[in-house]
Amino acid sequence: MTEDSFTSLVGRTIIVTGVASGIGRAIALLLAERGANLAMTDRSEDAGKELLENLKAKFPSQELAFEPLDLQDVDGIARLVETFNARFKRLDGLANCAGANIPSPIAHEVDDKLWEITTNVNQRAVWLLQKHFIAAVLGKKGKEEAPAGGYSIVTVGSMASLQGGPTFAAYVGTKHAVLGYTRAISKEYATENIRVNLVAPGNIETPMFNQVISEDKRAAVVDSVPMKRMGEAVEIAKAVAFLLSSEASYITGAYLPVDGGVTA
Ligand SMILES: NC(=O)c1ccc[n+]([C@@H]2O[C@H](COP(=O)([O-])OP(=O)(O)OC[C@H]3O[C@@H](n4cnc5c(N)ncnc54)[C@H](O)[C@@H]3O)[C@@H](O)[C@H]2O)c1
Repeated sequence: MTEDSFTSLVGRTIIVTGVASGIGRAIALLLAERGANLAMTDRSEDAGKELLENLKAKFPSQELAFEPLDLQDVDGIARLVETFNARFKRLDGLANCAGANIPSPIAHEVDDKLWEITTNVNQRAVWLLQKHFIAAVLGKKGKEEAPAGGYSIVTVGSMASLQGGPTFAAYVGTKHAVLGYTRAISKEYATENIRVNLVAPGNIETPMFNQVISEDKRAAVVDSVPMKRMGEAVEIAKAVAFLLSSEASYITGAYLPVDGGVTA
C-alpha cells in the first residue's frame, strides 16, 4: 500500500466551512486532491462559486457542491446540513474552519456586536454544525456502512484554544469553548464510531492573520516561533486531512497543535 492510499479520502463526503479564503480554501483543495466529495460553504458567494468551478474542472468525477451561508443564521445551518444530507448519498466528515477574528480593543472596550459576531461564528455555528452533522449520521445508522476509521469531525481551533492573549478576549473565549465541545462530544459519541478532534494552528499566512497582526508586529511574531517562519495554510489542511482519514482511526478528543513549536 502506498503512503497516498493511507490518506485517501476517495468516496467520502465531507462538509467544509470557510472555503472562500485562507485555511478553509486550502482544506477544500487538499481534500479534493485526495478524492473526497465536498459539500462546501462560506458567506462569500462569489469566491465560493469560483472555487467550485475550479474544483469541478480539475476533479470532474467527484461530487462537489457549494452553498452560500452566513453562519450567524441558526435556521440556515440546520437547512444547510439537511440540503447536503439529501443531496449527497452520505456524509462522512465535517471540517469546521470558518472563523471571525475582528481586530479588537481590551475587554472593557469591546462592543457587544463584536462579541456577538465572534461568538456566533466561532462557537455557536461550530456547535450547531456538529449537532446537525451527528444527527444526520445517526439518522442513517444501520442503513450504511461507516467509513474506514469512523466518521470524523475536525474543528479548526487555535493556540487561543489553550492560551490567552491581550486584545483577543472574545476570540480566545470562543476558541476555548470549541476545544471543550471537542473533548466532551468525543466521549459522547466514541461508541458510535464518530471521532471528534481539534487542530490548533499557530501563525498562518492568511488574510485573517494580516488583518489582526499589523505589519510592524510581524517580525516579532515570526521571531517568537521556534521554526522562525509563518505556517502555510496547506500545513493546517494536511493535519485536518489526516484526522479525517482512516489513518487517525484511534484518535479522538485530541488537541493537535500545528504551530512551528510555539506552544511546545
Ligand atoms: N491564520 C491564522 O494565523 C490562524 C491561527 C489560528 C486559528 N486560525 C483559525 O483558522 C480558521 C480559518 O482562518 P483563516 O486564517 O483562513 O481566515 P480567513 O479570514 O482567510 O478565512 C475565514 C473564512 O471564514 C469565512 N467566514 C467568516 N465569517 C463567516 C460567517 N459569518 N459565515 C460564513 N463564513 C464566514 C470567511 O468568509 C472566510 O472565507 C479560523 O477559524 C481561524 O480562527 C487562523
